[in-house]
Amino acid sequence: MTKFRTLDDLGDVTGKVALVRVDLNLPMQDGAVTDDTRIRAALPTINELAGKGAKVLLLAHFGRPKGARNSEQSLSMVIGAVAEVLGREVMFCPEIAGSVVAQTIGILRAGDVAVLENTRFWPGEEANDPALAKAIAANGDFYVNDAFSAAHRAHATTEGLAHLLPAYAGRSMQAELEALEKALGNPQRPVAAVVGGAKVSSKLDVLKHLVTQVDHLIIGGGMANTFLAAKGVDVGKSLCEHELAPQCWKS
Ligand code: 3PG
Repeated sequence: MTKFRTLDDLGDVTGKVALVRVDLNLPMQDGAVTDDTRIRAALPTINELAGKGAKVLLLAHFGRPKGARNSEQSLSMVIGAVAEVLGREVMFCPEIAGSVVAQTIGILRAGDVAVLENTRFWPGEEANDPALAKAIAANGDFYVNDAFSAAHRAHATTEGLAHLLPAYAGRSMQAELEALEKALGNPQRPVAAVVGGAKVSSKLDVLKHLVTQVDHLIIGGGMANTFLAAKGVDVGKSLCEHELAPQCWKS
């Protein structure tokens, strides 16, 4: 089993600043969150850290703003939903590094939670710029990654920070990694994998790897349409990445 540090390995974190990468890329309609699954997935980690007296700063991306601020993709949009799921007040900080974050930390009491702004408003996030990671890390004492659904991206807050601060897997990340190990490490065969989601683009490499590990690979969700289109099936207006059909065909 691959070893990784979890929250069990944390010492006393009272008053310490936890930089916690979560996935708050939430579906929205008319300004309201329509599915809070990802907030609930991060709940055990947030509650555990807050319960241990850490000041919990949540880092997350929201959509694909391409390195520029815009009001529609501000994480301030999801604060209400986060506070509701957590059942506690949550502060919003419109920055991810620097003195404004430091001021926010100054206001937080041990066990309080704040959401920082959309990390993708800064071009350095997707570029995994070490300077941005360093600036973010400067305000934290340790780093927790609980965003399994964003962990396939080597970005400043999903990868870069792990090199700069003591790093731990959150509870949701831990559960996902343990489940993966159980399914792919030394499993009882036959093994079938069911993979869903909208975007083949972000999963093609994973699918290529998985197909060598499992006995059956079942593709569902919006992605299935891209494979069907590659086989010449008319998928109409269904979700489909037509430009990737040739690559799916080759795969
Ligand atoms: C998702 O919604 O699939 C994850 O949050 C990753 O988002 P991304 O594909 O924009 O990196």
